[in-house]
Amino acid sequence: MTTAEQRTAELREQLNFHIYRYHVLSAPVITDAEYDKLYHELRALEAAHPELITPDSPTQRAGSDLSEDFPKLRHPAPILSLSNCYSVEELRAWEERNLKLLPSGTQLAYTLEPKLDGLSIVITYENGLLTRAATRGNGEVGDDVTANVRTIRSVPLRIPVDAAKARYPTAQRLTVRGEVLFLKQDFEKVNQKQAEQGLPLFVNARNTASGALKQKDSRITAARPLTAYLYSIVEMVGITLDKQWDMLEYLRDMGFLIVPDAALYPTLYAVIAQLPTWESRKRGLAFEIDGVVVKINDLNIARELGIVGKDPRYATAYKFPAEEVTTKLLGVTVNIGRTGKVTPTAQLEPVFVGGVTVVNATLHNYQQIAALDIQQGDTVIIKRSGEVIPYVIGPVTALRTGEETPILPPERCPYCQTAIVQPQGAVDHFCPNLVCPERVLRSIEFFVSKGAMDIEGMGPQTVKALIERGLVRDEADVFYLKPEHLAGLEGFAEKKIANLMAAIAAARQRPLAQLLASLGIDGVGGKIANDLANHFGGIEALMQATVEEIDALEGIGEVLAQSIVAWFAEAHHQRLLQKMAAAGVRMVGEQKVVAGDQLAGLSFVLTGTLPTLAREEAEALIQAHGGKITGSVSKKTSYVLMGEAPGSKAEKARQLGVPIISEADLRRLIGD
Ligand code: IVH
Repeated sequence: MTTAEQRTAELREQLNFHIYRYHVLSAPVITDAEYDKLYHELRALEAAHPELITPDSPTQRAGSDLSEDFPKLRHPAPILSLSNCYSVEELRAWEERNLKLLPSGTQLAYTLEPKLDGLSIVITYENGLLTRAATRGNGEVGDDVTANVRTIRSVPLRIPVDAAKARYPTAQRLTVRGEVLFLKQDFEKVNQKQAEQGLPLFVNARNTASGALKQKDSRITAARPLTAYLYSIVEMVGITLDKQWDMLEYLRDMGFLIVPDAALYPTLYAVIAQLPTWESRKRGLAFEIDGVVVKINDLNIARELGIVGKDPRYATAYKFPAEEVTTKLLGVTVNIGRTGKVTPTAQLEPVFVGGVTVVNATLHNYQQIAALDIQQGDTVIIKRSGEVIPYVIGPVTALRTGEETPILPPERCPYCQTAIVQPQGAVDHFCPNLVCPERVLRSIEFFVSKGAMDIEGMGPQTVKALIERGLVRDEADVFYLKPEHLAGLEGFAEKKIANLMAAIAAARQRPLAQLLASLGIDGVGGKIANDLANHFGGIEALMQATVEEIDALEGIGEVLAQSIVAWFAEAHHQRLLQKMAAAGVRMVGEQKVVAGDQLAGLSFVLTGTLPTLAREEAEALIQAHGGKITGSVSKKTSYVLMGEAPGSKAEKARQLGVPIISEADLRRLIGD
C-alpha cells in the first residue's frame, strides 16, 4: 500500500466514525474545525489521486441540504463551493497555480470579503420582483424556501428599492446568492426568549439559522430575526458585468445588504497584509465569520480558469486557525497570584490552537471545575481566541474510560504550606499568607513592572534571581540594591548594572499616585490611586484615613474604602512603607498650589478646546482656587466651561439649565 492509499483509508475510517458520533449518537468527540481539517485532507488527497476514491468515502455524500418537506427548484447555474487555504503559503500557492494557467504577465486584482458563517441562499427576481428563493441543496437543485425568505427583512421583495438612486438598469432576470445568518445580538435575543419560555437554548447560531429557514410554517421563520448578506450574482439577463467588485456595487445599488467591509486590492500581497486585521477584528463583528474569501476581481479570467470538482479556481477561502480543539487534560497545577488567589491551571497534551501550540490553559476556579464536571484524565475542549488566555470549555464525557479522577482544591498552599481558605461567599480560594514566597514573588514582579513602578531592566527573570539569592525579600528591598549585589547575576555586565541602578533611582521619584497603584491594594488602579493621592496628598494622611473619609470620595464605595483601610492597617504593609520611605521613596504628592478659594464649593465640567489654556492647565487653575472638576454634567454641576467644538456635555448643560461659561468668564470668577 502506498502512503497516500494508507492515509486515505485512515481518513475515511476516522471521518465515518465522527459522522456517526455526531449525527447518530449526537455525541461528537472532536470539534467541527478538527472534523473539517480531516475532511479537507481527504479531499485534497482524493483530488491528487482520483483512483483512491471509494464509494464509502465521506466526500461521496453529495453535499446536499435537501429535505423532503419542500418542493425543489433548479438553479440557473451550479451553486459552487470554495476551496480552503489555512496559511499564507497555501494562499500564495493558490495564486501561483492560477498564474500558470493564464497568459504570462497577467496581473491579478482581488476582492477580499468576510466568510460569513451561515447558509447559502439563492434568490431570483423577475422584472424586479422576488419570485423564488432556494437553499443550495446539492448545488443543482435546492429546497424551495420562497415563503420563508420573504420573511427576512433585509431581502427586498422588489428591486431596485430606491429607483431614483439606482445607477444601473434592472436586469430582466436576476439570480443572486448570499448567506443567511443570525447577527450575534439577534441570536442572543432568540435564546433569551427560549429561556423565558423555559425552552432549551440553541447552541449553534448557524444550525439555528438553518433550522429557521427550513420551517414548513413561515410564521415560525418570521419570528426568528434572520439577516441575509449577498456576495454574488449567479445569473443576470439583460446586463453584463465583468468584475466581482461591480457585482457588489450593482447589488448595493439594487438595495441589497451586501457582504460588509468587502474591499478591492491590486495584488495578493495587499490582500495578505489585511489578514491579521481581519483576524483581530473578528470578535468585534456583529456576525460570526470563519475566515475571509479572496476572489479574482476579473470575472472573464474567473471563467477562463474554470472549476475543479465543486470549487471554482478563481476564489478561495482563507480559514482562520481553529479556535477550539480537543486534547487530554494530564494534570492540574496550582497558581498563586499576588493577592493569594488560587488559579487551577490545566496541564495539557500539547495542542495547536488559535495559531500557537498550547500546553496549559486556565480552569478559572474550582467552582467552575465542579460546575463543568471536569476531571483529571478527561479529553477536554480548549478555546483560544485572539490574545485571550486559553481556557477549558468542558470535558468530552463520551470519551471517559472510568480512570478519570475528580479535581479538588488544594488543602495547603504548595509554596508555603499554609491552609488554603475560601472566604464566605467567594468563588475563589486563597492562600492567606502575606509572606508566602510565591505571593511575594508575584507582588514584586508586579511592583516593578511597566504598568506599575516601571523599573526598566527588572523583568520577572531578574526578580526571581534576586529573590533566590536573598537580595530581595519584599518590594522595599528593591530600593536597597547596590551595584555589588547585581555583579554576580547572569547577564549583568557593568553597563546593565548602571542602567538598572539609574532606573531604580528614577523609581524613587515616581508620583505618589503611581506608587499607590503599584502596591497591589485590591481595587486600587490608576484612577482611584490618582483620586486618593490628590485628596490625601501623602501616604501618612492616607494611613490615618477612616473608611468614612475614603468612602466620601467620588467613585469610591464602602467596600473599596474598607479594603483600602484594611490594607494600610496590616503591620506588614506599614513596615513595608516605612522601609520604602527610609530608602528615599517619595511618599507625598506634588505640593498643591493654593492660589485662592474663590471657587470653593463649586464644581466644573470641561468641554471643547479653550482659547489659551490646555485642559490640564484649566483643571489646575480651577483646583488651585478651590474648585472641583467632575467628569459628567448633572444638576449639581455649578458651571460647564466650554471652548471650541464642545461635545455632548454642552447640550446636556443646556437641557439641565447648568450655566455655560467661557475661559474669560472663568478668569473673571477668580479675579484674574
Ligand atoms: S463565494 C463561487 N463569498 O462559504 C463562489 N461564499 O465554504 C462561492 N460564504 O457555500 C461562494 N461568505 O455559503 C462566497 N463572501 C463569501 C462568502 C461565502 C460565506 C459561504 C458560502 C459557500 C461557503 C463555502
